[in-house]
Amino acid sequence: MNRSLFGEEFIWGVSTAAYQIEGGHNADGKGPSIWDVFSKKKGKIRNGHHAEVACDFYNRYEDDILLMKQLNIPHFRFSIAWTRILPEGVGEINREGINFYNRVIDTCIQHGITPWVTLYHWDLPQALENKGGWTNRSILEWFETYVRLCVDSFGDRVKHWMVMNEPVAFVGAGYFFGKHAPGRWGLRYFLPAVHHATLSMARGAKIIKERYPTAMVGTTFSHSVLEPISLKTRHIHALRRADAIMNRLFLEPILGMGYPIDAVKALKNLKKYILPGDEENIGFNFDFIGLQTYTREVIQFSMLMPYVWANIVEPRKRGVKHTTAMDWEIYPPSIYEALKRFQSYPNMPPIIITENGAAFKDEVIGDRVYDAERTKYLQDHIQQVLRAKVEGVDVRGYFVWTFTDNFEWAEGYHPRFGLVHVDFETQKRIVKESGKWYGEWLSR
Ligand code: NOJ
Repeated sequence: MNRSLFGEEFIWGVSTAAYQIEGGHNADGKGPSIWDVFSKKKGKIRNGHHAEVACDFYNRYEDDILLMKQLNIPHFRFSIAWTRILPEGVGEINREGINFYNRVIDTCIQHGITPWVTLYHWDLPQALENKGGWTNRSILEWFETYVRLCVDSFGDRVKHWMVMNEPVAFVGAGYFFGKHAPGRWGLRYFLPAVHHATLSMARGAKIIKERYPTAMVGTTFSHSVLEPISLKTRHIHALRRADAIMNRLFLEPILGMGYPIDAVKALKNLKKYILPGDEENIGFNFDFIGLQTYTREVIQFSMLMPYVWANIVEPRKRGVKHTTAMDWEIYPPSIYEALKRFQSYPNMPPIIITENGAAFKDEVIGDRVYDAERTKYLQDHIQQVLRAKVEGVDVRGYFVWTFTDNFEWAEGYHPRFGLVHVDFETQKRIVKESGKWYGEWLSR
Protein backbone atom coordinates (compact mmCIF):
# COMPACT_ATOMS: atom_id res chain seq x y z
CA MET A 1 0.00 0.00 0.00
CA ASN A 2 1.24 3.40 -0.96
CA ARG A 3 -0.01 6.74 0.31
CA SER A 4 0.00 8.23 -3.19
CA LEU A 5 -2.92 5.92 -4.02
CA PHE A 6 -5.06 8.23 -1.90
CA GLY A 7 -4.10 11.26 -4.00
CA GLU A 8 -2.39 14.52 -3.10
CA GLU A 9 -5.56 16.12 -1.78
CA PHE A 10 -6.35 13.43 0.78
CA ILE A 11 -6.34 14.85 4.31
CA TRP A 12 -4.30 13.10 7.02
CA GLY A 13 -4.35 14.07 10.63
CA VAL A 14 -4.77 13.32 14.31
CA SER A 15 -7.81 13.99 16.51
CA THR A 16 -8.12 15.04 20.14
CA ALA A 17 -10.66 16.64 22.48
CA ALA A 18 -10.28 19.38 25.09
CA TYR A 19 -11.30 17.55 28.25
CA GLN A 20 -9.27 14.50 27.34
CA ILE A 21 -5.95 16.34 26.97
CA GLU A 22 -5.93 19.89 28.29
CA GLY A 23 -5.94 19.69 32.06
CA GLY A 24 -5.80 23.25 33.45
CA HIS A 25 -9.28 22.52 34.77
CA ASN A 26 -9.59 25.84 36.60
CA ALA A 27 -6.69 27.74 35.06
CA ASP A 28 -7.00 31.41 34.18
CA GLY A 29 -10.70 31.76 34.85
CA LYS A 30 -12.01 28.54 33.32
CA GLY A 31 -15.39 27.48 34.70
CA PRO A 32 -16.39 23.88 35.60
CA SER A 33 -17.84 21.64 32.93
CA ILE A 34 -20.11 18.65 33.50
CA TRP A 35 -17.04 16.42 33.12
CA ASP A 36 -15.11 18.32 35.80
CA VAL A 37 -18.00 17.69 38.17
CA PHE A 38 -18.96 14.16 37.08
CA SER A 39 -15.42 12.77 37.19
CA LYS A 40 -15.05 13.84 40.82
CA LYS A 41 -18.13 11.84 41.86
CA LYS A 42 -17.42 8.54 43.53
CA GLY A 43 -17.57 5.46 41.39
CA LYS A 44 -18.17 7.18 38.07
CA ILE A 45 -14.72 6.81 36.52
CA ARG A 46 -12.59 3.69 36.57
CA ASN A 47 -9.93 3.90 39.30
CA GLY A 48 -11.30 7.28 40.39
CA HIS A 49 -9.42 9.05 37.60
CA HIS A 50 -10.26 12.59 36.48
CA ALA A 51 -8.76 15.02 34.02
CA GLU A 52 -7.70 17.96 36.16
CA VAL A 53 -4.24 17.65 34.64
CA ALA A 54 -4.69 15.03 31.88
CA CYS A 55 -1.84 15.53 29.36
CA ASP A 56 -1.34 19.10 30.53
CA PHE A 57 -1.81 20.23 26.94
CA TYR A 58 -2.87 23.57 28.40
CA ASN A 59 0.77 24.21 29.30
CA ARG A 60 2.50 21.91 26.82
CA TYR A 61 0.66 22.69 23.59
CA GLU A 62 3.75 24.22 21.98
CA ASP A 63 5.85 21.10 22.47
CA ASP A 64 3.02 18.81 21.45
CA ILE A 65 2.31 20.73 18.26
CA LEU A 66 6.03 20.79 17.50
CA LEU A 67 6.11 17.02 17.93
CA MET A 68 3.21 16.77 15.51
CA LYS A 69 5.22 18.73 13.02
CA GLN A 70 8.22 16.46 13.54
CA LEU A 71 5.95 13.53 12.70
CA ASN A 72 4.85 15.27 9.48
CA ILE A 73 1.23 15.44 10.63
CA PRO A 74 -0.45 18.09 8.49
CA HIS A 75 -3.90 18.37 10.15
CA PHE A 76 -4.76 18.64 13.84
CA ARG A 77 -8.28 18.23 15.14
CA PHE A 78 -8.97 19.56 18.64
CA SER A 79 -12.00 20.89 20.46
CA ILE A 80 -12.75 24.08 22.32
CA ALA A 81 -13.73 23.88 25.97
CA TRP A 82 -16.88 26.00 26.20
CA THR A 83 -16.12 26.78 29.87
CA ARG A 84 -12.69 28.16 29.05
CA ILE A 85 -14.15 30.98 27.03
CA LEU A 86 -17.57 31.32 28.69
CA PRO A 87 -17.08 30.04 32.27
CA GLU A 88 -20.81 30.19 33.02
CA GLY A 89 -21.84 28.97 29.58
CA VAL A 90 -23.26 32.37 28.64
CA GLY A 91 -22.58 35.88 29.88
CA GLU A 92 -19.12 36.98 30.80
CA ILE A 93 -16.36 36.19 28.31
CA ASN A 94 -13.02 34.91 29.61
CA ARG A 95 -10.37 36.57 27.45
CA GLU A 96 -7.65 34.31 28.88
CA GLY A 97 -9.48 31.31 27.45
CA ILE A 98 -9.79 32.93 24.05
CA ASN A 99 -6.09 33.78 24.16
CA PHE A 100 -5.24 30.16 24.86
CA TYR A 101 -7.00 28.95 21.71
CA ASN A 102 -5.50 31.83 19.75
CA ARG A 103 -2.07 30.58 20.80
CA VAL A 104 -2.91 27.00 19.87
CA ILE A 105 -4.26 28.03 16.47
CA ASP A 106 -1.34 30.35 15.76
CA THR A 107 1.19 27.70 16.77
CA CYS A 108 -0.43 25.23 14.37
CA ILE A 109 -0.35 27.73 11.55
CA GLN A 110 3.27 28.69 12.25
CA HIS A 111 4.22 25.04 11.85
CA GLY A 112 2.16 24.60 8.71
CA ILE A 113 -0.45 22.46 10.50
CA THR A 114 -4.10 23.06 9.64
CA PRO A 115 -6.34 23.43 12.70
CA TRP A 116 -9.67 21.56 12.61
CA VAL A 117 -11.93 22.71 15.40
CA THR A 118 -14.73 20.74 17.06
CA LEU A 119 -17.12 23.08 18.82
CA TYR A 120 -18.71 20.56 21.13
CA HIS A 121 -16.88 17.48 22.37
CA TRP A 122 -19.08 16.76 25.40
CA ASP A 123 -17.87 19.23 28.05
CA LEU A 124 -21.01 21.27 28.65
CA PRO A 125 -20.71 24.10 31.18
CA GLN A 126 -21.99 22.86 34.55
CA ALA A 127 -23.82 26.18 34.97
CA LEU A 128 -25.98 25.25 31.99
CA GLU A 129 -26.47 21.68 33.16
CA ASN A 130 -27.84 23.18 36.37
CA LYS A 131 -30.57 24.68 34.21
CA GLY A 132 -31.32 21.36 32.49
CA GLY A 133 -28.45 21.15 30.00
CA TRP A 134 -29.38 19.55 26.71
CA THR A 135 -32.90 18.80 27.96
CA ASN A 136 -33.72 22.52 28.16
CA ARG A 137 -34.73 24.06 24.86
CA SER A 138 -32.94 27.26 25.84
CA ILE A 139 -29.76 25.42 24.95
CA LEU A 140 -30.45 26.46 21.38
CA GLU A 141 -29.74 30.07 22.34
CA TRP A 142 -26.90 29.18 24.72
CA PHE A 143 -25.19 27.13 22.04
CA GLU A 144 -25.74 29.85 19.47
CA THR A 145 -24.04 32.42 21.72
CA TYR A 146 -21.09 30.10 22.20
CA VAL A 147 -20.75 29.26 18.51
CA ARG A 148 -20.89 32.94 17.54
CA LEU A 149 -18.14 33.75 19.99
CA CYS A 150 -15.94 30.95 18.60
CA VAL A 151 -16.53 31.96 15.02
CA ASP A 152 -15.96 35.66 15.72
CA SER A 153 -12.80 34.91 17.69
CA PHE A 154 -11.17 32.21 15.56
CA GLY A 155 -12.91 32.19 12.18
CA ASP A 156 -10.30 34.45 10.56
CA ARG A 157 -7.79 31.57 10.88
CA VAL A 158 -9.87 28.43 11.39
CA LYS A 159 -11.33 27.25 8.09
CA HIS A 160 -12.39 23.73 9.11
CA TRP A 161 -15.09 23.21 11.70
CA MET A 162 -17.03 20.33 13.19
CA VAL A 163 -20.09 21.43 15.10
CA MET A 164 -20.53 18.37 17.28
CA ASN A 165 -18.78 15.16 18.17
CA GLU A 166 -20.78 11.92 18.19
CA PRO A 167 -24.13 13.19 19.44
CA VAL A 168 -25.47 9.69 20.06
CA ALA A 169 -22.58 8.99 22.42
CA PHE A 170 -22.98 12.02 24.66
CA VAL A 171 -26.76 12.07 24.58
CA GLY A 172 -27.03 8.29 24.98
CA ALA A 173 -24.35 7.79 27.61
CA GLY A 174 -25.05 11.11 29.36
CA TYR A 175 -28.85 11.32 29.33
CA PHE A 176 -30.10 7.76 28.82
CA PHE A 177 -27.63 5.42 30.53
CA GLY A 178 -26.12 7.87 33.00
CA LYS A 179 -22.66 6.42 32.40
CA HIS A 180 -21.17 9.68 31.16
CA ALA A 181 -21.62 13.23 32.37
CA PRO A 182 -24.03 14.59 33.42
CA GLY A 183 -25.11 11.12 34.58
CA ARG A 184 -28.86 11.32 33.98
CA TRP A 185 -30.90 8.39 32.82
CA GLY A 186 -34.30 7.86 31.30
CA LEU A 187 -36.35 8.69 28.22
CA ARG A 188 -37.62 11.96 29.67
CA TYR A 189 -34.05 13.28 29.52
CA PHE A 190 -32.92 11.43 26.46
CA LEU A 191 -35.63 12.50 24.03
CA PRO A 192 -35.50 16.27 24.53
CA ALA A 193 -31.68 16.09 24.54
CA VAL A 194 -31.79 14.25 21.19
CA HIS A 195 -33.93 16.91 19.61
CA HIS A 196 -32.03 19.89 20.98
CA ALA A 197 -28.67 18.42 20.00
CA THR A 198 -29.94 17.74 16.49
CA LEU A 199 -31.31 21.25 16.06
CA SER A 200 -28.07 22.69 17.45
CA MET A 201 -25.95 20.89 14.89
CA ALA A 202 -27.78 22.55 12.04
CA ARG A 203 -27.97 25.90 13.80
CA GLY A 204 -24.28 25.92 14.65
CA ALA A 205 -23.39 25.15 11.06
CA LYS A 206 -25.60 27.95 9.74
CA ILE A 207 -23.95 30.46 12.03
CA ILE A 208 -20.47 29.56 10.78
CA LYS A 209 -21.58 29.66 7.15
CA GLU A 210 -23.33 33.03 7.49
CA ARG A 211 -20.14 34.58 8.79
CA TYR A 212 -17.65 32.61 6.65
CA PRO A 213 -19.39 31.17 3.59
CA THR A 214 -16.23 29.47 2.33
CA ALA A 215 -15.39 27.73 5.61
CA MET A 216 -15.58 23.93 5.50
CA VAL A 217 -18.24 22.92 7.98
CA GLY A 218 -18.97 19.39 9.11
CA THR A 219 -20.16 17.45 12.11
CA THR A 220 -19.15 13.98 13.27
CA PHE A 221 -21.06 10.75 13.87
CA SER A 222 -20.07 7.48 15.41
CA HIS A 223 -21.10 4.49 13.37
CA SER A 224 -21.30 0.91 14.52
CA VAL A 225 -21.38 -1.82 11.94
CA LEU A 226 -23.97 -4.24 13.32
CA GLU A 227 -24.60 -7.90 12.72
CA PRO A 228 -27.33 -10.09 14.23
CA ILE A 229 -26.26 -12.99 16.41
CA SER A 230 -28.32 -15.27 14.19
CA LEU A 231 -30.87 -14.86 11.44
CA LYS A 232 -33.82 -15.49 13.77
CA THR A 233 -36.51 -12.88 13.28
CA ARG A 234 -36.31 -11.55 16.82
CA HIS A 235 -32.61 -10.83 16.46
CA ILE A 236 -33.08 -9.19 13.07
CA HIS A 237 -35.77 -6.94 14.53
CA ALA A 238 -33.56 -6.19 17.51
CA LEU A 239 -30.78 -5.22 15.13
CA ARG A 240 -33.07 -2.83 13.25
CA ARG A 241 -34.02 -1.08 16.46
CA ALA A 242 -30.42 -0.87 17.65
CA ASP A 243 -29.38 0.47 14.27
CA ALA A 244 -32.06 3.17 14.41
CA ILE A 245 -30.77 4.41 17.74
CA MET A 246 -27.04 3.89 17.31
CA ASN A 247 -26.61 4.87 13.68
CA ARG A 248 -29.62 6.64 12.21
CA LEU A 249 -31.04 8.81 14.99
CA PHE A 250 -28.90 11.91 14.43
CA LEU A 251 -27.60 11.34 10.94
CA GLU A 252 -30.88 11.01 9.08
CA PRO A 253 -32.55 14.20 10.34
CA ILE A 254 -29.40 16.13 9.41
CA LEU A 255 -29.61 14.65 5.91
CA GLY A 256 -33.19 15.95 5.70
CA MET A 257 -34.83 12.53 6.18
CA GLY A 258 -36.39 13.09 9.59
CA TYR A 259 -36.00 10.91 12.69
CA PRO A 260 -36.30 7.13 12.25
CA ILE A 261 -39.42 7.24 14.42
CA ASP A 262 -41.07 4.18 12.87
CA ALA A 263 -38.20 1.92 13.85
CA VAL A 264 -38.52 2.22 17.64
CA LYS A 265 -41.83 2.80 19.40
CA ALA A 266 -40.36 4.96 22.16
CA LEU A 267 -39.11 7.47 19.60
CA LYS A 268 -42.74 8.50 18.93
CA ASN A 269 -42.50 10.64 22.03
CA LEU A 270 -39.89 12.76 20.30
CA LYS A 271 -42.84 14.49 18.67
CA LYS A 272 -43.62 16.17 21.99
CA TYR A 273 -40.44 18.21 21.66
CA ILE A 274 -40.68 19.07 17.98
CA LEU A 275 -42.19 22.55 17.70
CA PRO A 276 -43.68 24.16 14.59
CA GLY A 277 -40.87 25.24 12.31
CA ASP A 278 -38.33 22.78 13.70
CA GLU A 279 -38.64 20.33 10.86
CA GLU A 280 -37.49 22.93 8.34
CA ASN A 281 -34.48 23.78 10.51
CA ILE A 282 -33.19 20.34 11.23
CA GLY A 283 -31.45 19.44 8.00
CA PHE A 284 -28.26 21.07 6.86
CA ASN A 285 -26.17 20.69 3.79
CA PHE A 286 -22.80 20.10 5.45
CA ASP A 287 -19.56 20.40 3.47
CA PHE A 288 -18.48 17.09 4.94
CA ILE A 289 -19.64 14.46 7.38
CA GLY A 290 -17.18 13.06 9.90
CA LEU A 291 -17.41 9.30 10.29
CA GLN A 292 -15.93 7.69 13.42
CA THR A 293 -15.78 3.96 13.64
CA TYR A 294 -13.66 1.49 15.56
CA THR A 295 -15.18 -1.98 15.52
CA ARG A 296 -18.28 -4.04 14.71
CA GLU A 297 -20.96 -5.11 17.14
CA VAL A 298 -23.10 -8.22 17.26
CA ILE A 299 -26.68 -7.66 18.38
CA GLN A 300 -29.21 -9.96 19.99
CA PHE A 301 -32.77 -9.58 21.17
CA SER A 302 -32.88 -8.80 24.90
CA MET A 303 -35.58 -8.03 27.44
CA LEU A 304 -33.03 -6.29 29.63
CA MET A 305 -32.71 -3.16 27.56
CA PRO A 306 -35.93 -1.17 27.75
CA TYR A 307 -37.36 0.43 24.60
CA VAL A 308 -34.73 -0.97 22.26
CA TRP A 309 -35.04 -4.62 23.36
CA ALA A 310 -31.62 -5.30 21.98
CA ASN A 311 -28.23 -5.92 23.48
CA ILE A 312 -24.66 -5.87 22.31
CA VAL A 313 -23.06 -9.29 22.68
CA GLU A 314 -19.60 -8.72 24.12
CA PRO A 315 -16.82 -9.99 21.86
CA ARG A 316 -15.52 -12.40 24.50
CA LYS A 317 -18.96 -13.97 24.84
CA ARG A 318 -18.98 -14.72 21.15
CA GLY A 319 -15.53 -16.25 21.14
CA VAL A 320 -13.51 -13.31 19.79
CA LYS A 321 -9.98 -13.66 21.12
CA HIS A 322 -8.27 -10.69 19.63
CA THR A 323 -9.66 -7.49 21.13
CA THR A 324 -8.30 -4.06 22.01
CA ALA A 325 -7.83 -2.73 25.55
CA MET A 326 -11.42 -1.45 25.29
CA ASP A 327 -12.51 -5.04 24.64
CA TRP A 328 -13.47 -4.10 21.13
CA GLU A 329 -13.17 -6.66 18.37
CA ILE A 330 -10.52 -5.89 15.77
CA TYR A 331 -12.37 -6.08 12.51
CA PRO A 332 -10.91 -3.83 9.80
CA PRO A 333 -13.66 -4.36 7.18
CA SER A 334 -16.01 -2.46 9.51
CA ILE A 335 -14.58 0.85 8.33
CA TYR A 336 -15.14 -0.17 4.72
CA GLU A 337 -18.71 -1.26 5.46
CA ALA A 338 -19.42 1.95 7.37
CA LEU A 339 -18.12 4.04 4.47
CA LYS A 340 -20.26 2.09 1.99
CA ARG A 341 -23.32 2.55 4.18
CA PHE A 342 -22.76 6.30 4.49
CA GLN A 343 -22.24 6.59 0.76
CA SER A 344 -25.50 4.74 0.14
CA TYR A 345 -27.44 7.77 1.40
CA PRO A 346 -28.28 9.70 -1.77
CA ASN A 347 -27.56 13.12 -0.28
CA MET A 348 -24.41 12.26 1.65
CA PRO A 349 -21.76 15.00 1.50
CA PRO A 350 -18.08 14.04 1.18
CA ILE A 351 -16.97 11.89 4.09
CA ILE A 352 -13.92 12.29 6.31
CA ILE A 353 -12.86 9.65 8.80
CA THR A 354 -12.52 12.04 11.73
CA GLU A 355 -11.55 9.27 14.18
CA ASN A 356 -10.20 5.75 13.97
CA GLY A 357 -7.62 4.04 16.14
CA ALA A 358 -7.15 1.57 18.96
CA ALA A 359 -6.12 1.20 22.59
CA PHE A 360 -3.56 -1.46 23.45
CA LYS A 361 -1.34 -2.28 26.34
CA ASP A 362 1.92 -0.71 25.18
CA GLU A 363 5.28 -2.14 26.02
CA VAL A 364 7.65 0.56 27.27
CA ILE A 365 11.29 -0.49 27.14
CA GLY A 366 13.68 2.34 27.90
CA ASP A 367 12.94 5.08 25.44
CA ARG A 368 10.94 2.96 23.06
CA VAL A 369 7.32 1.95 23.07
CA TYR A 370 6.51 -1.18 21.14
CA ASP A 371 2.95 -1.28 19.87
CA ALA A 372 2.98 -3.44 16.78
CA GLU A 373 -0.74 -4.16 17.20
CA ARG A 374 -1.61 -0.48 16.84
CA THR A 375 0.50 -0.09 13.72
CA LYS A 376 -1.20 -3.11 12.21
CA TYR A 377 -4.63 -1.86 13.24
CA LEU A 378 -3.98 1.47 11.53
CA GLN A 379 -2.51 -0.08 8.39
CA ASP A 380 -5.36 -2.55 8.03
CA HIS A 381 -8.00 0.13 8.52
CA ILE A 382 -6.32 2.56 6.14
CA GLN A 383 -6.23 -0.25 3.59
CA GLN A 384 -9.99 -0.67 3.97
CA VAL A 385 -10.50 3.06 3.51
CA LEU A 386 -8.59 2.78 0.26
CA ARG A 387 -10.75 -0.17 -0.79
CA ALA A 388 -13.88 1.95 -0.28
CA LYS A 389 -12.33 4.92 -2.07
CA VAL A 390 -11.33 2.81 -5.07
CA GLU A 391 -14.93 1.57 -5.23
CA GLY A 392 -16.14 5.13 -5.54
CA VAL A 393 -16.86 6.24 -1.97
CA ASP A 394 -16.17 9.96 -1.69
CA VAL A 395 -13.89 9.74 1.34
CA ARG A 396 -11.51 12.66 1.62
CA GLY A 397 -9.53 12.23 4.81
CA TYR A 398 -8.42 10.11 7.74
CA PHE A 399 -7.63 11.25 11.30
CA VAL A 400 -6.08 8.90 13.85
CA TRP A 401 -7.61 8.84 17.29
CA THR A 402 -5.40 10.02 18.94
CA PHE A 403 -2.13 11.93 19.22
CA THR A 404 -1.10 11.42 22.85
CA ASP A 405 -2.52 8.86 25.28
CA ASN A 406 -5.27 10.65 27.17
CA PHE A 407 -8.32 10.51 29.44
CA GLU A 408 -10.76 7.98 28.01
CA TRP A 409 -13.93 9.24 29.73
CA ALA A 410 -15.49 6.66 32.10
CA GLU A 411 -12.51 4.37 31.46
CA GLY A 412 -9.97 6.86 32.83
CA TYR A 413 -6.36 6.62 31.69
CA HIS A 414 -6.22 2.86 31.39
CA PRO A 415 -6.91 2.54 27.64
CA ARG A 416 -4.02 4.09 25.74
CA PHE A 417 -5.05 5.20 22.27
CA GLY A 418 -2.10 7.48 21.46
CA LEU A 419 0.56 7.48 18.79
CA VAL A 420 2.62 9.09 21.53
CA HIS A 421 3.00 7.50 24.95
CA VAL A 422 2.44 9.72 28.00
CA ASP A 423 3.80 8.99 31.46
CA PHE A 424 1.05 10.67 33.47
CA GLU A 425 3.34 11.03 36.50
CA THR A 426 6.07 12.96 34.73
CA GLN A 427 4.24 14.07 31.54
CA LYS A 428 7.11 12.66 29.53
CA ARG A 429 6.20 11.89 25.92
CA ILE A 430 7.67 9.01 23.91
CA VAL A 431 6.73 8.55 20.29
CA LYS A 432 5.51 4.98 19.95
CA GLU A 433 6.62 2.76 17.10
CA SER A 434 3.15 3.33 15.58
CA GLY A 435 3.73 7.10 15.76
CA LYS A 436 7.04 6.66 13.95
CA TRP A 437 5.31 4.55 11.34
CA TYR A 438 2.56 7.17 10.84
CA GLY A 439 5.25 9.86 10.55
CA GLU A 440 7.04 7.87 7.87
CA TRP A 441 3.80 7.14 6.06
CA LEU A 442 3.12 10.86 5.97
CA SER A 443 6.59 11.71 4.69
CA ARG A 444 6.39 9.41 1.69
C1 NOJ B 1 -15.06 8.59 20.48
C2 NOJ B 1 -14.86 9.94 21.07
O1 NOJ B 1 -15.11 10.97 20.18
C3 NOJ B 1 -13.51 10.13 21.74
O2 NOJ B 1 -13.64 11.15 22.66
C4 NOJ B 1 -13.07 8.81 22.36
O3 NOJ B 1 -11.94 8.96 23.15
C5 NOJ B 1 -12.80 7.84 21.23
N1 NOJ B 1 -13.96 7.71 20.38
C6 NOJ B 1 -12.35 6.46 21.70
O4 NOJ B 1 -13.33 5.85 22.45
